[in-house]
Amino acid sequence: MVTKQQKLGTGFGAHSTADEVLTGIDLTGTTALVTGGYSGLGLEATRALAAAGAHVIVPARRPDTAEEALRGIPGTEVHPLDLSDQESVRVFSERFLETGRTLGIVIDGAGVMACPETRVGPGWEAQFAVNHLGHFALVNRLRPSLAPGARVVAVTSAGHFRSGIRWEDLHFRTGYDRWLAYAQSKTANALFAVHLDALGAGSGLHAFAVHPGSILTPLQRHIPREEWPALGWVTGDGESPEGFKTPRQGAATAVWAATSPLLDAHGGAYCQDCDIAGPAGTDDPLIGGVKPWATDPEAAARLWELSAELTGVNAF
Ligand SMILES: NC(=O)c1ccc[n+]([C@@H]2O[C@H](COP(=O)([O-])OP(=O)(O)OC[C@H]3O[C@@H](n4cnc5c(N)ncnc54)[C@H](OP(=O)(O)O)[C@@H]3O)[C@@H](O)[C@H]2O)c1
Repeated sequence: MVTKQQKLGTGFGAHSTADEVLTGIDLTGTTALVTGGYSGLGLEATRALAAAGAHVIVPARRPDTAEEALRGIPGTEVHPLDLSDQESVRVFSERFLETGRTLGIVIDGAGVMACPETRVGPGWEAQFAVNHLGHFALVNRLRPSLAPGARVVAVTSAGHFRSGIRWEDLHFRTGYDRWLAYAQSKTANALFAVHLDALGAGSGLHAFAVHPGSILTPLQRHIPREEWPALGWVTGDGESPEGFKTPRQGAATAVWAATSPLLDAHGGAYCQDCDIAGPAGTDDPLIGGVKPWATDPEAAARLWELSAELTGVNAF
């Protein structure tokens, strides 16, 4: 069943926090994996999931920094993983599979935004490689550990508004634009959820894409401060603009999509503000919604095949 992009009316919204959406949900006995779970939104998701009883695996490209960030949060563990390096993804996944543990929740939260042109692996554009291909390979490699009924949440962005998949020039060989590269990678995250859900639904696995909202975190590190006002990221007083969320609010939709019983009969949908999103009616990312190129099942299947070819991994 393909879930329609239409609000459910969940009782939660843009101001709900990760703790609030978990009220009454006991995750004791559930193991979750949260990439990027030691910074920004991922850290808040980890904290909230652990507080609800989950054991949270946090893969980190900077394990010492992750250990420090998670100190004092019981029920978390850190393991090295660099999503830009497919060999690192393989090693992390194989070590995890050797433990024989099962995962009930995977939140693909790690990401890089608008970095200077960077090439990784065989010359891949880094935002596509980290945000999409790293997670594609990770979830495929971890498939044997995914519990029946597991949920995978791909953290996308309203940044997808700016670009679909550039089939003819995935890696920006003809000229790099850091915002188009971010946009393509975030469309890829959304399409990944669409096709993963289609492939996994028969075995009870469901996937959702989540736009967290706009939140100031270390994600903005590649953009010089003087460019922030023009981008609408700070007011003249140096405050967060209206419509921006706190990190706890920003983590809420991913945590909600990973756990809400309201989504038991759904899958593959793009979510925002702790609900399924409607179609984007404007080009304003603060209003949000989802563009058609980020939910197109044919594009999702094509991207899956392409990603499997590039990474050499396809477990579904
Ligand atoms: N903040 C927003 O307004 C916003 C809006 C829409 C969507 N999002 C999405 O939300 C997600 C989380 O963003 P955030 O705001 O929480 O940013 P953040 O604080 O910068 O967190 C990103 C995390 O990703 C990790 N990461 C980056 N490259 C990696 C790699 N090669 N291997 C492993 N981990 C890597 C970072 O690790 P290091 O700290 O070691 O670099 C960090 O832990 C991203 O996918 C982003 O696109 C955010």
